[in-house]
Amino acid sequence: MMKTVFVINGPNLNLLGKREPEVYGNMTLFGIEKALHQRAEALRIGIDFRQSNHEGELVDWLQEAGEKADGVILNAAAYTHTSVALHDAVRAVSVPVVEVHLSNVHARETFRRRSFIAPVAAGIISGFGAQSYLLALDALHAGQYSEQGANEAKA
Ligand code: DQA
Repeated sequence: MMKTVFVINGPNLNLLGKREPEVYGNMTLFGIEKALHQRAEALRIGIDFRQSNHEGELVDWLQEAGEKADGVILNAAAYTHTSVALHDAVRAVSVPVVEVHLSNVHARETFRRRSFIAPVAAGIISGFGAQSYLLALDALHAGQYSEQGANEAKA
């Protein structure tokens, strides 16, 4: 049963709404949080929504999610493409972690095509704007993530 989901947002996502709206849309991070809370309420899931610009804090929160959450929605933003520490943190938790991106990272610069999260994620949702988060919540709720694959990669 998916009771508590941590939603963890990485660097610069606090600027959503102002930051490159042609890429990321007009919705603020608070707008995304509100939309998620609404959907979560309907699904009877509790949401713990956070954002940090600091890699180590994101690691701390993933570890905390391993203790307190049943699933994680992770937009690691730029750290997706650079962070072995976040890869290791995701690998270390046994709850499913869904990697999300507002933009389609594969349709942009080549450096965004590499993800350190993807090999240890339960699944990836990229390119649907704020809707990416709602789709991730639905996927966690439905249990339609590749638990097997994620666990094998983590083993
Ligand atoms: C992002 C994509 C990343 O490449 C970028 O660094 C971000 C946001 C997205 O949600 O589309 O900051 O994760």
